[in-house]
Amino acid sequence: NKAAAWSALFSEPMSELVQRYTASVDFDRRLWDADIQGSLAHAEMLAAQGILSAADHADIQRGLAQIRGEIESGEFVWKLALEDVHLNIEARLTELVGTAGKRLHTGRSRNDQVATDVRLWLRGEIDLLGDLLVQLQRVLVVQAEAHASVVMPGFTHLQVAQPVSFGHHLLAYVEMFARDAQRLQQVRQRVNQLPLGAAALAGTSYALDRERVARTLKMEGVCQNSLDAVSDRDFAIEFSAAAALVMVHISRLSEELVLWMSQNFGFITLPDRFCTGSSIMPQKKNPDVPELARGKCGRVVGHLMGLITLMKGQPLAYNKDNQEDKEPLFDTVDTLRDTLRIFCDMLAGLSVNEEAMERAALRGHATATDLADYLVKKGLAFRDAHEIVAHTVRAASSQGVELAALSLTQLQAIEPRIEADVFEVLSLQGSLQARQTLGGTAPTQVLAQVARHRQRLS
Ligand code: ARG
Repeated sequence: NKAAAWSALFSEPMSELVQRYTASVDFDRRLWDADIQGSLAHAEMLAAQGILSAADHADIQRGLAQIRGEIESGEFVWKLALEDVHLNIEARLTELVGTAGKRLHTGRSRNDQVATDVRLWLRGEIDLLGDLLVQLQRVLVVQAEAHASVVMPGFTHLQVAQPVSFGHHLLAYVEMFARDAQRLQQVRQRVNQLPLGAAALAGTSYALDRERVARTLKMEGVCQNSLDAVSDRDFAIEFSAAAALVMVHISRLSEELVLWMSQNFGFITLPDRFCTGSSIMPQKKNPDVPELARGKCGRVVGHLMGLITLMKGQPLAYNKDNQEDKEPLFDTVDTLRDTLRIFCDMLAGLSVNEEAMERAALRGHATATDLADYLVKKGLAFRDAHEIVAHTVRAASSQGVELAALSLTQLQAIEPRIEADVFEVLSLQGSLQARQTLGGTAPTQVLAQVARHRQRLS
């Protein structure tokens, strides 16, 4: 029952189970467009080299165009017995155009074919993901600009550390997503190399023009060693690593969104359409989307581990193991695409509770460093100032008040050099304004970052 090209050698059919076990068509059919593109480019080159007649070439073009239509309209019948996307399309082509269809595979193997298809497909997905990363950065930049002067507590060890601008906090994520986009672009260059022409593993005896095929497919170069061409999956691993980092950034942001939305913070609310309720607790509104995104990060990191492990024991050149590269790669792309789309929408709808952020920043003596810096300006050494402020914080804590709530008399009792201008320094806005270093949290610096990103993203 196995209608494959090698059947003459085989004396018994495959069992149902083995057929299902070895087939990939249920998932690799998504490569159909890349497969057709690759076949068209290969056929065009074969014709130009005089390996294929003009008539056969025309038949192949016509057949593939019809197959494209059948797949797009959903009429195409995918057969498990034909194992994978490549054999399904080739068999249908032969059904449609006869012998010309059987000539398409001249000088080609499924080994260089599948490597080409995955690369072509991934190149397109990288471009879509790149666009989504740009959109996401734009959304964050808009929010950052709107909240450049909104103060929140900045944390280290999740303990209140120093006041920061909420806009500044968001722009930290823009930096991450900008690096992610750059990383994907770099991966793209190595994805965009042509394996076709390597044939099964050793190259071929036909006078192929590989450079021509690369140009037709808009690839940047040709894989230079046939053994490597068919067996290399570094590009998929690199992509997965870049994707895992995107998800790590999404996951860190998600963790913060979840915390910020908890009643104990109350910093933000997410639009209802990204939350769900509880089947038992009527009051609940849970940030399911960021929670799930945090969870899906694990899945993408897992795919990276799967792919990298897939490669470690393979001898050269092609092995069937490589068929296992597809599901992790596909799922990584799907997860990333959906996550980025949802985050663009969700973050645009984020609403900010400025009072809650400010109240939280006023707890925990967030401007203690500012007081130490103030004393340094009055002539104290920083280490001495640090010690004095520690005493002051202790005094404030024992009275159950914040540093900024101590009176001038109380402050002067601890350090006589303190004057009335200290209260500006102890204020949240004063603290923020003071941090004018490049990349600092002062609103003017935040707006400078916004301007730089705007230009970069336009
Ligand atoms: N479906 C296979 C894959 O995904 C195509 C290549 C198979 N080549 C072979 N010689 N069995 O890798």
